[in-house]
Amino acid sequence: MTEREYSPGLEGIVAGETAISTLAGGLSYRGYSIEDLAHHATFEEVAHILLHGDLPTADELAKFRKRLGTQEVIPPPVLETLRRIPVKVPMMDVMRTGASLLAHWENEVADNSHDANVRKAERLLVQLPILMAARHRLLQGKEPVAADPRRSFAENVLWMLLRTQPTPAMTRAMDVSLILYAEHEFNASTFTARVIASTLSDLHSSICGAIGALKGPLHGGANERVLAILQTVGSADKAEAWVMDALAKKQRIMGFGHRVYKDGDPRAAYVKTMCREIAAETGHTPMEDLADKIEEVVWREKKLPPNVDWPTARLYHYFGLAVELYTPLFVVARTAGWCAHVIEQLDENRLIRPAANYTGPGRREWKDISQRAD
Ligand code: CMC
Repeated sequence: MTEREYSPGLEGIVAGETAISTLAGGLSYRGYSIEDLAHHATFEEVAHILLHGDLPTADELAKFRKRLGTQEVIPPPVLETLRRIPVKVPMMDVMRTGASLLAHWENEVADNSHDANVRKAERLLVQLPILMAARHRLLQGKEPVAADPRRSFAENVLWMLLRTQPTPAMTRAMDVSLILYAEHEFNASTFTARVIASTLSDLHSSICGAIGALKGPLHGGANERVLAILQTVGSADKAEAWVMDALAKKQRIMGFGHRVYKDGDPRAAYVKTMCREIAAETGHTPMEDLADKIEEVVWREKKLPPNVDWPTARLYHYFGLAVELYTPLFVVARTAGWCAHVIEQLDENRLIRPAANYTGPGRREWKDISQRAD
């Protein structure tokens, strides 16, 4: 077979078609710009756009919210298993196991029809934040709390984790961060989900694989490492020396750089504006000054802009959320995008099976074990 052109990391390779989102001309979900979504939408409206194809009418939104509010919560055996998982197990591993466990109590698990997958997606959208919050509370020695159907999706996420009434600015900031995390074309975890779906596996298996892909520090796992950087550096006056040392050691600075956005991640700019506001409200302005200084030095030295994880980690920290929740919160939001992609993949399915250029040895003679050198 002749060598075919290869792009490491599949950079720039078109690996499929999608009507869900595009980065061309600025990020948009099914034609709606993230500017408009970040200014006007709620996460529920964005989830509706992704799963059902368009903005809901008032009646459709009311029905969608009612469906989300009345979905089965976590089956008791799943909750029981959450109690037994060792304390040392990272939250992202619990999310992956949790998605798999939920499949065992999902009556439509093996039904890959469009409508069944939409129903399963809506259930997962509700179950995953409840599961995340339940595990978090169990680790604190507290009993899980149910979601409150009178609250919005974003408010419920904060309420279940913190058990204090979030301010309107906090709720809106959480809403926008979930909206901006919800979907991003053929990123690594979404592509993973599509590959799994393309074998005619099932939605829950796709989501388990996607969670595994998101966990890595080059993808969603970056947001948890961002906070470690900010806490290690400590203050703006130490930023210059820390960045210069990290770059001299050829370290990757988490929260900077992006495969597609070379001049700047538009999502980062939105979250950054909210960070300043929430930092002022919660007494964290010095961390914003530190982040600005790191940004300035990384740009000056490497021309690397911050990506969405850089400000989002700060935002979640200002909310008072524990760091091990940051990537799980990304899971909660991206579940909407992942499920939309699985459904789209299955609607026009063809097995995803690319090719490789072989780099191993040429054909060799079989050697009996007595003739092999030590
Ligand atoms: N810090 C230091 N150097 C970097 C960074 C960084 N964050 N990002 C890229 N580089 C350097 C890299 O070392 C390489 O340098 P050289 O050519 O001298 O070897 C050059 O830039 C190109 O790197 P690459 O890995 O080929 O570039 P990529 O387009 O594949 O990288 C990336 C994309 C996201 C993997 C990378 O920028 C990175 O590792 N960033 C840190 C992790 C991170 O923040 N991930 C979140 C991504 S966005 C949202 C999400 O998915 O969660």
